[in-house]
Amino acid sequence: MTEKTESTMWGGRFNEPTDAFVARFTASIQFDQRLFHHDINGSIAHATMLKQAGVLSDEELNDIKTGLEEIRQDAMAGNIEWSIALEDIHMNIEKRLTDKIGVTGKKLHTGRSRNDQVATDIRLYLRDEIDFIATEISRLQIAVIEQAEKNNAAIMPGFTHLQTAQPVTFGHHMLAWNEMLERDFSRLLDCRARMNQCPLGAAALAGTTYPIDRALTADLLGFDKPTENSLDSVSDRDFAIEFNAFASILLMHLSRFSEELVLWTSAQFNFIDLPDRFCTGSSIMPQKKNPDVPELVRGKSGRVFGNLTALLVLMKSQPLAYNKDNQEDKEPLFDSIDTVKDCLKAFADMIPAIEIEADSMYEAAKRGFSTATDLADYLVRKGMPFRDAHEVVGESVAYGLKTRKDLSEMTLEELQKFSDIIGDDVFDVLTLEGSVAARDHIGGTAPVQVTAAAARAKALVAQR
Ligand code: ARG
Repeated sequence: MTEKTESTMWGGRFNEPTDAFVARFTASIQFDQRLFHHDINGSIAHATMLKQAGVLSDEELNDIKTGLEEIRQDAMAGNIEWSIALEDIHMNIEKRLTDKIGVTGKKLHTGRSRNDQVATDIRLYLRDEIDFIATEISRLQIAVIEQAEKNNAAIMPGFTHLQTAQPVTFGHHMLAWNEMLERDFSRLLDCRARMNQCPLGAAALAGTTYPIDRALTADLLGFDKPTENSLDSVSDRDFAIEFNAFASILLMHLSRFSEELVLWTSAQFNFIDLPDRFCTGSSIMPQKKNPDVPELVRGKSGRVFGNLTALLVLMKSQPLAYNKDNQEDKEPLFDSIDTVKDCLKAFADMIPAIEIEADSMYEAAKRGFSTATDLADYLVRKGMPFRDAHEVVGESVAYGLKTRKDLSEMTLEELQKFSDIIGDDVFDVLTLEGSVAARDHIGGTAPVQVTAAAARAKALVAQR
């Protein structure tokens, strides 16, 4: 990056050059250079429209296009030294174009301002990233759903308050994660649908006196339509906030998911094994295998929540229309995009590689009296009021704690001490298999329901 003084694009009314610190402080080229593709695409659409409107000739349009495509190649090859004196990606490209093609380059900015230009660029950039992120969410969903299919009948303890509650299947647990991801996906698409309008033509704030065709530029750039109000067009950053809200909710979900993976890989749980390639060791403790990837995803949620707050505070109280404050929208937005992409990649690569420790999950489910509710339901079916059944089962659990026996390990005689309506059919409901199989309805944990739910979930992802 060069800091040498270069004549600015707006020097006409100024009597002294910009202070070197101020130039650096006000520049955005350090971070907005990643918009170069979209800035060039926006400029080509704008120039094409100017030609239709009779503002540029055929030849001028051709020169502009050729020049911009050359700049694109140079930028892709990393051959451009972006200049701080030229402030941002827009003026860097425009100045370069003029250096290349001469005076015609100076006509590109006719009927346009950096205010509508940047508003357009970020939308174009974010839209591409959203489309990629959507495919990554789908990839993760498929991984989660396939774990559910594979382990539809593997029994684990289900928890409330992190205390063993009732047995569930691992597949059912996986499909809970899929539901969250499904909602994240639809939130992302909502954000895309609302932001897909073209601000070009709003110019600085009030529109322009040239005979522009806003519908044409909108169409050329794949927007649904032009934005309605020029003041709103240059100042609105709702879409960046909305994307960050989506990203925050997604990362909140992934951090919960991470927390479970971290717990489950511990010796105390030992529910799953994470392959070595997703873990790291300790420099001092030779026995350690740490679940760094889920831990880091859990930690990365912090920066994304921070970015959402940063953008909300950035926009709060800004009067219409454009203010330089808005330049601060980019770094939080870019950081959230990068973080979301990395975290989704980490998860979509890691989830298919998880192996469950089925025996150990099964043993854990057996230890916590997880079929106590099933015994109460059994007594109710035999005619006992639920509150009384709750009391009877509570007493048998107390007895089990004292004698270190699970309900399914007690003899019929032992169980009948608590209620004489208990018969030997009770053992069908006291087993873990009986307990999960009995929850046989939509949204329930029975293995057949998990298989059916996984098929429905997969079909939803496939139809995208
Ligand atoms: N770099 C600026 C931004 O990111 C571009 C728009 C500048 N407009 C202006 N009037 N200073 O917002």
